[in-house]
Amino acid sequence: MSELKNDRFLRALLRQPVDVTPVWMMRQAGRYLPEYRASRERAGDFMGLCTNPELACEVTLQPLQRYPLDAAILFSDILTIPDAMGLGLYFEAGEGPRFRKTVSTEADIEALPVVKPEQDLPYVVDAVATIRRELNGRVPLIGFSGSPWTLATYMVEGGSSKDFRRTKQLAYNQPELMHRLLGKLAVSVTDYLNAQIRAGAQAVQIFDTWGGALSHAAYGEFSLAYMEKIVSGLIGENDGRQVPVILFTKGGGQWLPRLAATGAHCLGLDWTTDIGAARSLVGDRVALQGNMDPAVLYAAPARIRAEVAAILASYGRGPGHIFNLGHGITPQVDPAHAGVFIEAVHELSAAYHDN
Ligand code: CP3
Repeated sequence: MSELKNDRFLRALLRQPVDVTPVWMMRQAGRYLPEYRASRERAGDFMGLCTNPELACEVTLQPLQRYPLDAAILFSDILTIPDAMGLGLYFEAGEGPRFRKTVSTEADIEALPVVKPEQDLPYVVDAVATIRRELNGRVPLIGFSGSPWTLATYMVEGGSSKDFRRTKQLAYNQPELMHRLLGKLAVSVTDYLNAQIRAGAQAVQIFDTWGGALSHAAYGEFSLAYMEKIVSGLIGENDGRQVPVILFTKGGGQWLPRLAATGAHCLGLDWTTDIGAARSLVGDRVALQGNMDPAVLYAAPARIRAEVAAILASYGRGPGHIFNLGHGITPQVDPAHAGVFIEAVHELSAAYHDN
């Protein structure tokens, strides 16, 4: 494998010194880029992009051709796991993800297979290897998965949900059944992330998008416990380098010390948490990733720079910060504004590091 030319993202995840704060954007390959929309057109649809390793590689690299980003993220989706379990993922135009089958009874849960990634999701493993080859050491590649709880919400609801009525009904009425589902998902996610690491992923992120919908107690029982299991089951190394793990619970700002105790290297923050306050809470146990409100990218360039400056000032001096948005970049953002954001991070952060 070729030498890594820009390792500031991996260094920051391990809280090692860097020259400037590294930056990437959740959903950095996506609909706000015209070149992404053109590739999707050629593939036919979104799943056509995900299942073709050459096209998945092409769209992964698109944002890196425009911007000096410090990391690439595999182009795929968290819902490939339930799809591989046989639920039949599809996307209705403008409606988000949907499953042909849902999970609600004991028989449904018993019938779900544990995913064998090399066999059931070869297109993801191949995409990781293809992207690593094409990146040629330019920046590290991030692999990812959904958290068991977040995946379970889509599997039980059959798609996106506002109130998670069915999922919470199952969790509160038949907790032992919910635990069986989450246990199967945790084994599948661990194997899936390890397959991505073996294929070349240099860091991994677990997206717990809906953990924040749970109560304090239910979060520990139904989401955190399973992420902790996954973290302890991951291969720690790739090419002789540590593979850091990032946990991102959207809405999880109150649970940072509990998240830091899982053994993860870095916690992702949404924009509702003050990053400086978060840093005082977790101390030197973990790095922090985030956390500008993605909607700031709709504002004028001067305002974008001011928001970046405020977050850098809040975090303060020293290593352990990876700049990101507090959630994914949205389709209506002007690509030039994403450029302003990334440039501002590099330019304004130099003063916070020893150079
Ligand atoms: O960050 C990246 O650039 C990597 C690619 C990536 C996608 N989805 C591509 C995608 C990643 C990391 C995801 C994760 C994902 N997928 C999450 C967790 C992160 C988050 O945003 O909270 C969730 C909840 C999903 C499920 C999912 N996939 C939804 C709800 C949707 C529809 C949302 C929408 O914006 O319409 C998807 C589809 C999806 N995944 C798209 C992309 C680029 C849009 C599909 C398209 O091109 O039409």
